[in-house]
This record gives sequence, C-alpha cells and structure tokens, in this order.
Amino acid sequence: MSIDYSEKIPNNVDLASNKTLQRALEHWQPAYLDWWNEMGPDKTTSAEVYLRTAISVDPKGWAHFDHVKMPDYRWGIFLAPQEPDRKIHFGEHMGQNAWQEVPGEYRSTLRRIIVTQGDTEPASVEQQRHLGMTCPSLYDMRNLFQVNVEEGRHLWAMVYLLHAHFGRDGREEGEALLERRSGDADNPRILTAFNEKTPDWLSFFMFTFITDRDGKFQLAALAESGFDPLARTCKFMLTEEAHHLFVGESGISRMIQRTCEVMVQHKTDDPAKLRAMGVVDLPTLQKYLNFHYSVTSDLYGAEISSNAASFYTNGLKGRYEETKLGDDHRLDSAEYPVMEVTDDKIITRHVPALTALNERLRDDWVKDVQGGIDRWNKVPEKLGIPFRFTLPHKGFHRKIGIFGELHLSPEGRVISEAEWTHKHRDWLPTEEDRAFVQSLMGRVAEPGKFANWIAPPARGINNQPVDFEYVRFN
Ligand SMILES: [Fe+2]
Ligand SMILES: [Fe+2]
Repeated sequence: MSIDYSEKIPNNVDLASNKTLQRALEHWQPAYLDWWNEMGPDKTTSAEVYLRTAISVDPKGWAHFDHVKMPDYRWGIFLAPQEPDRKIHFGEHMGQNAWQEVPGEYRSTLRRIIVTQGDTEPASVEQQRHLGMTCPSLYDMRNLFQVNVEEGRHLWAMVYLLHAHFGRDGREEGEALLERRSGDADNPRILTAFNEKTPDWLSFFMFTFITDRDGKFQLAALAESGFDPLARTCKFMLTEEAHHLFVGESGISRMIQRTCEVMVQHKTDDPAKLRAMGVVDLPTLQKYLNFHYSVTSDLYGAEISSNAASFYTNGLKGRYEETKLGDDHRLDSAEYPVMEVTDDKIITRHVPALTALNERLRDDWVKDVQGGIDRWNKVPEKLGIPFRFTLPHKGFHRKIGIFGELHLSPEGRVISEAEWTHKHRDWLPTEEDRAFVQSLMGRVAEPGKFANWIAPPARGINNQPVDFEYVRFN
C-alpha cells in the first residue's frame, strides 16, 4: 500500500477515516515541528539533504530518495501489514487472538512501555544536534541527518499509538515527550544513557553501533507483543534501524582502517605519534567501546526482574525472535544462567527463566555486538596489525543490577575502590582523550573529501557515488 503524499501526515493506517485521531495528530504536529526547530540538527534549516523517506511498507521498495529540506521531511505513520487472525504466542494468553485494542488491565503498563521507548527517539536527536557542525564529510553528514529524521519518525510512531489507543492520557504523554530534554537537570529524558552527551563523531558512531542496537533488541521484543498495533509499529521501525546500525559499525570500521593505514605507513603503534599525525590510536577506540558498551548494558535493567517476568506472562513483551524458539513459550519451569558475586568471586547461578528475561535480552544483544567487533577486527588483521578489540566483562563499569555496587576490571576481576581509582583511566576515556578526539573534529563539507581521521566508505548511498553532493547548502 503506498501513501497519498498530499495528506498532511503520510500514513498507511487510514487516518482519513478517523477524524478525531487525525485532528489530535494535526494538533501535535506543529508542536513537534517547534521541537524539531529548537532541538533538531543545528543550523540546517535551508540545507537540502539526500534522504530516504518511508513511503510504504513494501519489502521490495518502501523508501524514496531525494534532496529534502529537513523541516519539510514527511514524518509518516507506517505499520507493518496486519497478519489475519494473529494470535498471542507466549505467556498466559497464548493462543488467544492478538489484541487490537488495549486490554484495560494492562493499560498503564503498556502506556509506560510505549512512553519509555518513545522517549529515546527524540532524546538521541537532541544528543546529536551539534554534530552536523563537525561532520567528517558530506556523506557522513547525510547519514547523521538520516538517522535524526528517522528517530523523529519513530517518535511519531509511538505518539500515534498513544493518541490512537490511550485517549486523553495518551495525548498528555505525547506532549510530555516534546517537553523533556536530554541532559536537562529538571526535566531529563527517562533513561540514563539518553542523558549522556554525544559530543563528537567517535561517540556518535559508538552510539549508533551499540545503543541503537539496544533499540533493535527492545523493538524486536516489542514486535512480539500481544498488543497488535505495537507489534506492527515496531516491526516497521526495525527496517529503518538497520541503517542506523550500519552507520555506526561502518563509521568505526573506517576509523580503524584509517588508523591502521597510518600505523603501517609510519611503522608505529605509539599512540602519541599517531595522535600527532591526526588519527585516533586503537587503544583510545577501545576505551570508547568500553564506555558505550557498559552504559548501554544498563539499559536492559537488573538481571533479575519481576517487571520483566510480568511483561512476558501478560503477553506485552516477548523474547528476541520468540516465534523461532522451540520451547513452551510460557517458561513455567525453565531456568536461565545469571551471574552472581559471592566473596568477590563471580559465579553462575540458575534462576527461573521468567525472572531473567532482561538478562536474556542483554545476552542476545551482547552476541550481536560481538559480531560487529569480529568484523572490525578483520581490518587490523588484514593489515598485519596484532591489535584486537574485545568486549569488557559484563560487570565492568555497571550502575544497575548485580554489578552496580561493585568495581570490576575489564577482564572481570572484582577490584577495590582504590584500584578502580588508580586504573580506570586506562579503561575509560579520560578528559584528555575526549579533548584529543574533540580537537580532530572540524567540518569537511566538500563532495568527495574526508577528514584525515576517517577512511572514505567503500560505496555511496543508494548507488550514488562517494563524491555525490549528499547535502546542498543554499
Ligand atoms: Fe529509533
Ligand atoms: Fe535508531
């Protein structure tokens, strides 16, 4: 089904037939645009960006590419097609028809789940709003803005659900989503990782590689939901999310490539020399990885969680790829291994799987992150450089859950406060590291030109050449 672009809000949900809903969204739209103009990409109003816009949910071609001014972007509402007779396929309602309306008893929980997901979308746009000023190329600038407009569309997706299914409270939540601000002392975004700064492109690439990947796993779990409109919305969001992960993974990979080339050319692995030549040494990249990995890991919550158990039992949030799993989909007696610390030793304990669903989703994410790290490691390997990136221990630098009160080394040794104070500068980016990375950031905005610290991509976007004019300034 394609959409009618003359409509104010492009959609495949037959908005025109529901006048109340259409009016509510048309009322929210100007407030959204005010938010975009205030908190969206800085100083870009007149730039024309080569963006993809979702125009349908057809797997063979759902996007249209063209130069657009971002405030004119058509943030549409798209749900994956409805499966006829879809059933709830896990938890205590297994086998019943999927809900098309919110069940009264789960109303406030579902609203909270949708608001929490929705809040991350504008948060990341706010975190990234100054990065256009220091882009390493037009290609990268375009990718940043693509991610930004799609996070904006994801906000639309969640606000649509709130307006369509949660009445007045839903409309109030829709307004509050435009009022919170990332990092604000009085009215911050809901989740901690979304209140951190994304001050430079290295942080941006790590964020899209790791934190957008948390988004992928949260959306995948919600795409299993018994509440059908939520499941269908998340399914389509996942289609867009893949590009965000690509931007992060390929961004870091190109940085590794560039650094390794300089290492080979000048036969050195001395960080000071490499920094003097204007590239980021590999140990510093590892520190940024440690930071983003640990902060994002906290987003999954505590290892043992009764909330996670009830979300599952009630059919609101499934496991990653629930339908592909070959068990009873109720977890009545299943167990799951979870780490525990006794006398400074980390041991594994089996707990009821139902209570360990946060940990399970975190483990699925860890595997996926590891896949990306393995692909990164092929870059130094090919160039004969022995350095390899590794993920720190799950308990390293955590604030939430079993490890929240402890200090662990990246290898997973429980260490004292004193040792942490002494060593953490070797493991996490220091002020000097951050200042160095910041010092490399300068705007490169000529087609086909790239900053010195990053290699060009292997190919362009949508079959366009690498030196295509991805952003036009007027
Ligand atoms: Fe998103
Ligand atoms: Fe994303």
